[in-house]
Amino acid sequence: MPRPSTSDSGAREPAFAFRCIACGTQNETAVQNCRCAACGDLLEIVYPRWKPSPPEARDLKSTWCQRRVSQSALDLSGVWRFRELLPTLDDERQAVTLREGNTPLYELPQCSRVTGVPKLFAKHQGLNPTGSFKDTGMTVAATFGRRAGFRWVACASTGNTSASMAAYAARGGMRSLVLVPEGKISWSKLSQALDYGAVTCQLRTDFDGCLRLLQELVLRAPVYQLNSINPFRLEGQKTLALELLEQLDWQTPDHIIVPGGNLGNSSAIGKALLEMRHLGLISRLPKLSIIQAEGANALVRTLREGAGKRLIPVSAETRATAIRIGNPASWKKAVNVLQATGGSCEQVTEVEMAQAKAEIGAEGIGCEPASAVTLAGLKKLLKQNFVKPDETVVLVLTGNLLKDPDFTIDFHRGELFKGGDAEKANTALSQLRRPPMVLDATLDAVMRTLEQAEKV
Ligand code: F0G
Repeated sequence: MPRPSTSDSGAREPAFAFRCIACGTQNETAVQNCRCAACGDLLEIVYPRWKPSPPEARDLKSTWCQRRVSQSALDLSGVWRFRELLPTLDDERQAVTLREGNTPLYELPQCSRVTGVPKLFAKHQGLNPTGSFKDTGMTVAATFGRRAGFRWVACASTGNTSASMAAYAARGGMRSLVLVPEGKISWSKLSQALDYGAVTCQLRTDFDGCLRLLQELVLRAPVYQLNSINPFRLEGQKTLALELLEQLDWQTPDHIIVPGGNLGNSSAIGKALLEMRHLGLISRLPKLSIIQAEGANALVRTLREGAGKRLIPVSAETRATAIRIGNPASWKKAVNVLQATGGSCEQVTEVEMAQAKAEIGAEGIGCEPASAVTLAGLKKLLKQNFVKPDETVVLVLTGNLLKDPDFTIDFHRGELFKGGDAEKANTALSQLRRPPMVLDATLDAVMRTLEQAEKV
């Protein structure tokens, strides 16, 4: 089996290196399972040249700003536009890009009213090319996988990673292998992987089982793994924070709130914030908080019952299938960023999440259920006085509404909750429900409906 190198060669100080998050061992290459050869823990990418000669914050800001009017493929990407803070390419044509990033920062006037937080924003990563934040990481990881000579890429996924990976593999002329838990991901996401030509395996297990199997597979077959264990993914996902701060004119918000599943994204955003402060791009850190579904709350329990020192895995269950993860791979990185930024970690119920999703939808922007935990979590953090109403808060919406239409339709039809507390839940949410109606095709019937709706 070929052993492609993932290092940048030729310079005295390497432009980037892999460092183990546990034992600190640093290497210019990484083995295929993306784990430390010495102790087996996760790796992160570091930039040794920043020590002797850190890039100048003012120059970076003006370079990134100027690129916004450029038409070059690399500058049109909202990820590669920030390439000074990414692993270096020898040749710009190497990048596998779909013009990812460049996502809007929206004000949320109605959610502001609901929460009493006037300065409330949503960074909508669901408006990436395949409909989720995964694209920002995938462009970097797929680029380096192809550069290392791999013909095959692979991932375990709750759906969005597989959709994104399949698209970037296709664009980069690589084959892709998808491992998803059978019956536990949204058909919309599965359809994307199929459309982009992935070899798609629905395994009779959960996400954690798929990821375990993938980790064994990459040691046996020449496939490049594109889960967020791959540190290149997190480098790309860092750019969410860079783009956000640029949109806020480099004024640091008080809080950034993000959903937590496998915990790669929170780790990436935290890494970006720390690097930005180190380079003088910002002078203070926002608090980065992570919200999980109550039924998939491994990090919450790890912090509460394991003091953040040992992972407490759970058997995950939630309708937010994107974050239906019980054994998050990047939990140590996430604990580190929570501590470094002073963020909080909370859990929300299925009802709280469904309500928040409908409230975001009512803003006319919509998101998938996993993203809505951020608004539900904000309400909790306000109650705890961890977030103050006059502070600036950014919610990271990770996926597009169309990623999981079944959830939305079940919600509006009052079919989301079944069994025990269903009636209570449906009553609590009835104000937000807009069930579709079947009517006779008469003017009278439509007029009556309009009059009825006017009264609500
Ligand atoms: N939101 C959405 C829409 C997701 O798809 C995911 C993860 C998360 C939040 C959580 O992010 O794992 O970095 O903490 N989805 C992965 C997947 C696991 O396979 O698509 P995380």
